Amino acid sequence: MNTIAPLGNSLEQHWMPFTANRSFKANPRIMSGASGMYYTTERGDKLVDGSAGLFCVAAGHGRPEIADAVSQTLREMDFVPPFQYGHPKSFELARRIAAVTPGDLNHIFFCNSGSESVETALKIAIAYQRARGEGQRMRLVGRERAYHGVNFGGLSVAGMVNNRKAFGLGLPGVCHLRHTMLPEHNKTVGQPETGAELANDLQRLIDLYGADQFAACIVEPIAGSTGVLVPPKGYLNRLREICDENGILLIFDEVICGFGRTGHEFGSDAFGVVPDMVTMAKALTNGVVPMGAVACSEKLLDTLADVAPDWGIELFHGYTYSGCPVASAAALATRDIFEQEDLVSRAAAMTPKFLDALYSLGDLPIVKDIRGYGLLGGVDLAALDGAPGKRGTVATQDLFEAGLIVKLTGDCVLISPPLVCEESHLDEIFTKLRGVLATY
Ligand SMILES: Cc1ncc(COP(=O)(O)O)c(C=O)c1O
Repeated sequence: MNTIAPLGNSLEQHWMPFTANRSFKANPRIMSGASGMYYTTERGDKLVDGSAGLFCVAAGHGRPEIADAVSQTLREMDFVPPFQYGHPKSFELARRIAAVTPGDLNHIFFCNSGSESVETALKIAIAYQRARGEGQRMRLVGRERAYHGVNFGGLSVAGMVNNRKAFGLGLPGVCHLRHTMLPEHNKTVGQPETGAELANDLQRLIDLYGADQFAACIVEPIAGSTGVLVPPKGYLNRLREICDENGILLIFDEVICGFGRTGHEFGSDAFGVVPDMVTMAKALTNGVVPMGAVACSEKLLDTLADVAPDWGIELFHGYTYSGCPVASAAALATRDIFEQEDLVSRAAAMTPKFLDALYSLGDLPIVKDIRGYGLLGGVDLAALDGAPGKRGTVATQDLFEAGLIVKLTGDCVLISPPLVCEESHLDEIFTKLRGVLATY
């Protein structure tokens, strides 16, 4: 029998993710609507969206094209088993994604989130090495300050301490590169000139353990959630070289960078380095329906398929909702909008204005560092009362009261507006941000 008392409008039952549940419920921030660049709260306040939801609403909120595609698909066909059966939309979507992914990353594996895309990529890497007769290659390399979602594989290769420390040891055999943020990079605009040599950490790990131990190295082209660490010039190229010389797969986690955030289709295009796999999610469906994907180079599927019998499965991996009709429909409608409105070029065109506004915050005493690339910016704030994260918590509430939604990680403000933003929206975002930060 259910022993819960009548719930009324209690907020207690929902355990919210990555949220201080007690303080949120004492002072909730509840949205009731979203349209274009704005959210509306339950109280009727209008907030400008400085974070594209959570880096995902690239085309702006409430796009009727996506809603129509989703509702029509739900009426046509609700579900098809994705194992051994198919439906046209997921194949069409894979073709459309493959048309914009870098290099020969033409095989698209669908899942339901960024976290699952990371797990999928790591598993494909290990399975590929085994299929080519290198089954001893089980080590994975990640990087300090990385965010690769919250599942155990992603957590193991990631490097944000609060996300890891409560959850035990993670996968065995994982090594980490140092992060790329050097003191001399303070307030650098775009890619830092120094630091490419930090990629040689991968060579040091190879020298320590032996090249034939390593399956893959995973990095975000720009480390997003940790505060926007833009790769030093030459850094990603050097990682690519070392991976090539040593039979190691290179995975770019483009869950934030993918689909125009850098002013290029993918971070890979922005920095001129083609990995063996790209993970993606977020802007893939404009945030409307959960979906993730991994774009894999042709050799990966070929190698796995070559060692499986003709009638047999080459990768024992997948999700009940991999490429499900409604998510595929949302992603296809999102692809249409990206093409018709040329959102990637639009992001590139808006970048100078965005970066000017971002770096203009540098005169505020509370601002310790600023980093930015494309329509992605990070602003480090000085800690409050010597307690890391406290300033960020206070700022989240103050910015909300001032009519601005942005993401704070610790004491870093992450700014990533929808790619459809106009100059007037950037003015509004940065005026509101300055207004609050100037009071600290
Ligand atoms: C680079 C990166 N990888 C993975 C993820 C996890 O995505 P999700 O929250 O959809 O699982 C994120 C989320 O922010 C991310 O930024």
